[in-house]
Amino acid sequence: MRKEIEQLAEEVITRCRKLATFSEDSGSLRRTFLSPPMHEVHREITTWLEPLGTELQIDAAGNLRARYAGREPAAPRLLIGSHLDTVPNAGAFDGMLGVVLPIALLEGLDGRRLPYVIEVVGFSDEEGVRFGTPFLGSCALVGRFGESLLAMQDSHGIPVRKAIQDFGLNPAKIADAVLGDDVCAYLEFHIEQGPVLESLGLPLGVVESVAGQSRLEFTFVGRANHAGTTPMNLRIDAIAGAAEWIETVERVAKAIPGLVATVGSLQAKPGAVNVIAGEAQLTLDVRHSADDMRARTVEDLIRGAQAIARGRGLSVCWKERLNQCAVSMDRNLITQVEEAIRKTGSKPHRMASGAGHDAMILAEKVPAGIVFLRTPGGISHDPAESVLVDDVAKAIECGLHLLDQFAVSPAFQKRTCRA
Ligand code: HGY
Ligand code: MN
Ligand code: MN
Repeated sequence: MRKEIEQLAEEVITRCRKLATFSEDSGSLRRTFLSPPMHEVHREITTWLEPLGTELQIDAAGNLRARYAGREPAAPRLLIGSHLDTVPNAGAFDGMLGVVLPIALLEGLDGRRLPYVIEVVGFSDEEGVRFGTPFLGSCALVGRFGESLLAMQDSHGIPVRKAIQDFGLNPAKIADAVLGDDVCAYLEFHIEQGPVLESLGLPLGVVESVAGQSRLEFTFVGRANHAGTTPMNLRIDAIAGAAEWIETVERVAKAIPGLVATVGSLQAKPGAVNVIAGEAQLTLDVRHSADDMRARTVEDLIRGAQAIARGRGLSVCWKERLNQCAVSMDRNLITQVEEAIRKTGSKPHRMASGAGHDAMILAEKVPAGIVFLRTPGGISHDPAESVLVDDVAKAIECGLHLLDQFAVSPAFQKRTCRA
């Protein structure tokens, strides 16, 4: 019995909110790479997939992989997915929507088989919260999950390799997660996480390119001392130095059109009200659509940190955690998505993405495309993150049109995986 699009849309939202109850924290959503709540997420999604006749597995990087067979055994494969991990104090739709919505598409097929396989993917880590480096899940699919990633440690000194073993998986099988040459495309449905579609009054957009991003960790080191007995001119205050640099980060970023730079976390040691901080650890996130502008800005901010440290008798060191180039989405998929959006009665809008997405990693091996859904209030990475049920219905309609368009497009089905 075919569920109506509206019913499927309601169910997508209900299911995303259900997945959002599986958290490491009580009272808010945090679900990082292979943390225990990810088992509950996999179990819940399995209950939705089982009636659809999919073959389901969790690969060695912790990605959920559900295969909906095509008409022929040797058919090409379309991946549709997103990530199941979250930031701290997250909303219910960033990532999760892009795993739950393709399940609704499979339900919308109502048992119909296509001339290609559909694989729904739920990536184990895109945000990079636990190990500081993002895209662990999608890196496994493009063959970039090597020894250096396996050896990375979280804040408790647990290496990725052990996190995989603790989750009940075998890191020696990581290579099995790599995509074969039967994959013809990757499609991701994701909330925009910004204000553009809402400002245009549009439900859906199609992403042309994803901004490049740099992530670094900085540590300013001064000298801890007594807050009551140390005169101001004798202090080597790590937080004061970090604060001067944070102001520099904001001033530099405001002066460069299209660039964003964020110090998202700041930890002081020893972190007591009556102790001058001996150490300040900060993170830096810099993004721009032009890689050379992003690289130049990072270099300038590193020099700025060194100059401030010199002027205050501090030392400063830094570690690069990510240098991800900007990525263009596949032209053919952009055109296909625009056509499908038009069929829903909406005007397609081509746009850039300031947020990173797994599609930018998959694009290294297969044509990749992203369909954006309007984000009410432009709020994301926060419990107030939401979607409109009518927009989800439009996205499901768009997705079903895309599946039909791909089914009659030999160009789409030709094996285009750059293995
Ligand atoms: O930070 C981002 O761009 C995304 O939420 N991972
Ligand atoms: Mn995110
Ligand atoms: Mn996301």
